[in-house]
Amino acid sequence: MKFRMALVVVSLLLSIAIGLMLGRRGALPASRSGGGGDAPIVIGLSMDTEKEARWQKDRDVFTARARELGAQVKTQSANSDDTRQIQDVKSLLANHVDVLVIIPHDGDAMAEGVREAAKAGVPVIAYDRLIRNCDLDLYLSFDNVKVGEMQARYLVEHLPGGKGRIVRIYGAPTDNNAKIFKQGQDQVLAPLIARGDIEVVHEDWATDWDSANAKKIMNAALTRASSGFDAVLASNDGTAGGAIQALKEAGLAGKVIVTGQDADLVACQRIAAGQQAMTVYKPIQNLATRAAELAVTMARGKPVIANGAVANGQKDVPAVLLDIVSVDKDNLRQTIVAGGFHSEAEVFGAP
Ligand code: GAL
Repeated sequence: MKFRMALVVVSLLLSIAIGLMLGRRGALPASRSGGGGDAPIVIGLSMDTEKEARWQKDRDVFTARARELGAQVKTQSANSDDTRQIQDVKSLLANHVDVLVIIPHDGDAMAEGVREAAKAGVPVIAYDRLIRNCDLDLYLSFDNVKVGEMQARYLVEHLPGGKGRIVRIYGAPTDNNAKIFKQGQDQVLAPLIARGDIEVVHEDWATDWDSANAKKIMNAALTRASSGFDAVLASNDGTAGGAIQALKEAGLAGKVIVTGQDADLVACQRIAAGQQAMTVYKPIQNLATRAAELAVTMARGKPVIANGAVANGQKDVPAVLLDIVSVDKDNLRQTIVAGGFHSEAEVFGAP
C-alpha cells in the first residue's frame, strides 16, 4: 500500500514539474490528446504570409514531419494582416488545437494571440520570429543577430580596403527579426562608420519585406547618391531581388555588392550569375523539422530542452536557436547543393 501511495505522489509531482517547466498555466491543456490520449495531436500553424518561397518550404517540411509523428496540422495564412492573424489564432483555438505554432506578421500585435492561447491552456511556439511582451512558451529560430553580423562582415571584407559608400535596406518594421538583423549589422558597421571608412548614403525599411518596396528604396538611393555607391546591405533575398532589379535598370547589376538571406532559389541563381554577392543559408529543413518535433512534445505535456533564452520584454523566453551559413559563389555547391536545398541544375542551369 505504501509503495502505491509513493507512486501516486511521485507521478503527481512529475506532472506538476512538467507543467512548470513548460511555463504552462495551471493544468495541462484540456485538449483531446494532451498527456497521451488516443486522439491524434492537432497542431495549429498560424502564418504571416506564404509569399516568400522560404515560407512555403517551412510549411511543407513542418507539415510532413508532423504527419510522420502522427499529428494533424491545421494551417492558416494571414496575408500580412494583423487583424486576420488574430482571427486565425482564435479560429484554430476554437478548433481545439493542442499546440499553436505562430509566425507573427507583427511581433507586438501577436501578443494578443498568445494571451488567447493562454486562456485556453494551449502552449505557443513562436516560429522564427519572436512575439513580444507576453508569456510565450518557446521561441525557435536562428541566431538572427549573427545573420546581420554575417551580412555586414561579408560586405566590409569585400569592399576595397574595407571602405566604401553603402545603401542599407532593412526588412519589415513590424518584424522583430528585421530589427535584430539591423542590430547585428550595426555591431559590425558602427565603428567603421564612426571612423569614416563606411558611409551610409541612403537607408530605409521595406514594408512587409516587399521586393517592390525594396526596389523603390534602391531607386531613391540611385537618385539621391548621384556620386554612386559600392554596396547594398539588403536584409534578405526578396529585398535584394528588388534592389537588383533597380540596379539592372540603371546598368549597375553585378557592379555593386548586394547581400541577402534565405538562400532563395532565385537568389542562388543570381549569386551563380554574379548579380548578388551572398546570402545567409538558414536550413529550413532543420528549423521546420525541429518545430514539428517540439510542437508534438509540448502537446503531449512533455518537457522541451531549450539551448538559450531570449528576452521578449516580459520574460526570458526559452529559446532553441539553430546554426546558419554564409554562402557566396565559392561555396554554393558545398552548402546549398550538397545540403539538398536546391539542385545543381536548378542553381547553375541544366548542363
Ligand atoms: C524574416 C525571416 C527572413 C526573411 C523575412 C521574409 O522574419 O527571418 O528569413 O526572409 O522574414 O519573410
